[in-house]
Amino acid sequence: MGKKITLSVIKADVGGFVGHSSVHPELLETARGVLAGSPLLIDFHVTHVGDDINLIMTHENGKDNGSIHQLAWDTFLSCTGVAKKLKLYGAGQDLLSDAFSGNVKGMGPGVAELEFEERGSEPVIVFMADKTEPGAWNLPLYKMFADPFNTIGLVIDPKMHKGFLFEIRDLIENKKVTFSCPEELYDMLVFIGATGRYVVKSVFQKETNEIVATSSTQRLNLMAGRYVGKDDPVLLVRCQSGFPAVGEALEPFANPHLVSGWMRGSHSGPLMPVPVAMSNPTRFDGPPRVAALGFQLCGGKLLGPQDFFADPSYDLARQKANEIANYIRRMGPFEPHRLHLNEMEYTTLPDVSKRLKDRFEKLRLS
Ligand code: F6R
Ligand code: MG
Ligand code: MG
Repeated sequence: MGKKITLSVIKADVGGFVGHSSVHPELLETARGVLAGSPLLIDFHVTHVGDDINLIMTHENGKDNGSIHQLAWDTFLSCTGVAKKLKLYGAGQDLLSDAFSGNVKGMGPGVAELEFEERGSEPVIVFMADKTEPGAWNLPLYKMFADPFNTIGLVIDPKMHKGFLFEIRDLIENKKVTFSCPEELYDMLVFIGATGRYVVKSVFQKETNEIVATSSTQRLNLMAGRYVGKDDPVLLVRCQSGFPAVGEALEPFANPHLVSGWMRGSHSGPLMPVPVAMSNPTRFDGPPRVAALGFQLCGGKLLGPQDFFADPSYDLARQKANEIANYIRRMGPFEPHRLHLNEMEYTTLPDVSKRLKDRFEKLRLS
């Protein structure tokens, strides 16, 4: 066994610039400074998508490592200090506690970590979304790893032909279950079609049992017991040589599917693929965005990034997302543009119901 590399992506919104649209450059510089001073990392890349800072890090300490999580936490604390000084919007909003407990999970930041032996060549993609939730990855992951109309490798690459295992999390009851695809596709779809509750946590190649993809599955709103911002998830995908080709992993985003999030985390809207420079949600605080950065790993070094959605082949997806946004915005506060009552991040329903309680008259069945 060779030595293992861990790719850790830890993200948080610790203050928006302006409003909830982007990250102030001083925060990104601060994060780079803290990570550069650490002896723990092989390499790192600091970026943002919308108002979230993403720390992309490689090291040899494994997943859930206390020192790495502490480093990310300290980085976000330093950024929060700057955000407070600049009076940025919602400074420190994703750091749910003052006391760090050894692992950032459950404390606000989103986490996705992949641990593996680096292959002869190791292309990876870091997908990062803003103004949406972890279930936004369900449909693209299904397409990448289970749909031959998206991924021709499932049909004609002998190393992919057996299929993939999907580990699904139930975010409400805190349970997990694994489905073997393609045999159990229909059973799996019963669950992952319900994106607000069931999310694909990881995908494994059946041929080798290797982990190929993993996502962040935090539900910030449930963790905090009150609204503190949508989770804005990340997804890591290893590509090529028996895993989806880079183009097969990117292909699902050519059709901007509807996801939950957008304005006040309470609307359904198209997920628009964009380069990092275009990742600042504007219209109605959206529409929700996804960026995809590609890296070649080389002894843990992050060669890159390639900003994949800067490519003109995603222009039509952006246009389509704008058309869908235009269409669905016309529905204003009506479902299904506005989310179902129990999926909204903001609601005035209890207060209004209480105030109008006496105006509601019981109807008798006649
Ligand atoms: C959604 C989001 C924004 C805010 C909205 C209101 O995830 O971040 O749409 O919900 O701008 O923000 P507050 O309540 O902070 O004024
Ligand atoms: Mg924000
Ligand atoms: Mg955000």
